Amino acid sequence: MKSFYITTAIDYANGKPHLGHAYEKVLTDVVARFRRLMGDDVYFLTGIDEHGQKVQQSAQARGIEPIELCDEAAVAFKGLCASLDVSNDDFIRTTEDRHKNVVRSILQKLFDQGDIYKAEYQGYYSKRAEQFLQDKDRDENGEWPALFGEVEEITESNYFFKLSQHQDWLIDHTKSNESFIYPLFRAKQVLEFLKEPINDLCISRPKERLEWGIPLPFDEDYVTYVWFDALVNYVSAVGYGTDSFEDHWPADFHVIGKDILVPPHAVYWPIMLKAADIALPKSLLVHGWWLKSGEKMSKSTGTVVDPLDLIGQFGSDAFRYFVTREMNVGHDSEFSQERYMARYNSDLANDLGNLLSRVLAMLGRGFDGVIPAPQVEEDLETELWNLWGETQPKVVALYEEFQFHTGLERTFAFISAINRYAEQRAPWKLAKSEDPEDKKRLDTSLFVMAESLRLAVGLLAPVLPQTSQKVYDLLGYEADSDWTQRLQRSEAIVGKKTGEKTILFPKPQNDA
Ligand code: ME8
Ligand code: MG
Repeated sequence: MKSFYITTAIDYANGKPHLGHAYEKVLTDVVARFRRLMGDDVYFLTGIDEHGQKVQQSAQARGIEPIELCDEAAVAFKGLCASLDVSNDDFIRTTEDRHKNVVRSILQKLFDQGDIYKAEYQGYYSKRAEQFLQDKDRDENGEWPALFGEVEEITESNYFFKLSQHQDWLIDHTKSNESFIYPLFRAKQVLEFLKEPINDLCISRPKERLEWGIPLPFDEDYVTYVWFDALVNYVSAVGYGTDSFEDHWPADFHVIGKDILVPPHAVYWPIMLKAADIALPKSLLVHGWWLKSGEKMSKSTGTVVDPLDLIGQFGSDAFRYFVTREMNVGHDSEFSQERYMARYNSDLANDLGNLLSRVLAMLGRGFDGVIPAPQVEEDLETELWNLWGETQPKVVALYEEFQFHTGLERTFAFISAINRYAEQRAPWKLAKSEDPEDKKRLDTSLFVMAESLRLAVGLLAPVLPQTSQKVYDLLGYEADSDWTQRLQRSEAIVGKKTGEKTILFPKPQNDA
């Protein structure tokens, strides 16, 4: 059986992991965990992008070898995945032989076919920045900004990959496959870009300018330049050229940010694959940006949020909850510490955390911690079960469409309804009554609260995996291996011994 193969972008090794990287991994992990719960055999790839000028320059500035810098980055990004509780099956580094060999074999194939040619490139070159400049780099007076130093017009030979001959095919493919780009409105940007003739892609840099790259197999005086190296990770990681390749390929989803859709993932990548006679990925899932004060976070403006600080303070589930609850997949979202705290306190600590503490405390006090069997069903119970009957299929359908934020909103609306049920049923009052009917109501109410909490955390499992499992353990529930079964009402927890009163999401000290 072919796996459900999902990937993230590979992050640049030249820089620390930031909120945008962490978000992309969590989003991909939520999809991966959801598909696994739905019964798919998921294969999840992430990794880092290690070659290029910036890595070479940073290493030089620090007086170390580029590979040392990359080794540090690998530790940092793998650490991020672990801290976020991300369930990736593999982590690719573009300096690994398994990757370099595949890049070289695809390049050789395209060269042999005549899809790659050598040509002279003429342009304005900044020695200081070690790069060719374009008209967009000029200032408002049409001059080169001082930071580029002396700019000279030079001619350089390079290798180019033919793109233009595939333009009509790509337009047709993009138009006729509505599921190729999600959300659909992003496909319009691709078609807009494809209205103009596309230039062939320069895929090389001469070694004297850039050494830190994969040598071209047909001309060792050159290294492969960025996208032709980076994009290939998606096939090199799953054994392109070996028998097991088709166990995973084609990818079901490449999860990427909007800045790398056009042209890399929506133009270069499909054309590279088409030319190399490799099947296309089924879909691109394109997310928006985390903003700070309305702008993309960036190192240069000092607006980078360190995800590890947030995880250190409030745990990985809280981080995962915040980014998934706040971001409407495909759009942008503003990050602020205040919003983070508001979500943490009101949803996690109060609505969910207090409900669990309350249930465990009441069971501990009057029932020796054992969950009673339900005895009656009155309007209050019927209403709550009806709400579950609507919530459960709706949330699963929302998850199927990547509407995780509304799925969580619905799930927390159900959790609020459990709290309302508790207020209205007031088991603490029933416990004082002499009426035998009230004793039945008391048993019922504690069962209903525990069972509805068990159901709710089932829906949270893709986003809050630790919390979900913790609540199951505290309720003495042994999770059914079939997730859809876990989401059905049952009496499996009747008679189970519950755990000690537990604070799931402690309030921070300074927040009294
Ligand atoms: O682009 N909000 O690497 P990268 C949300 N190596 N997502 C963000 C973000 C933000 N503020 N900032 C970055 C690269 N991202 C290439 C990719 S793939 C074959 C090669 C996302 O480290 C960004 O959109 O700059 C991208 O998907 C990912 O983080 C890595 O960005
Ligand atoms: Mg970037």
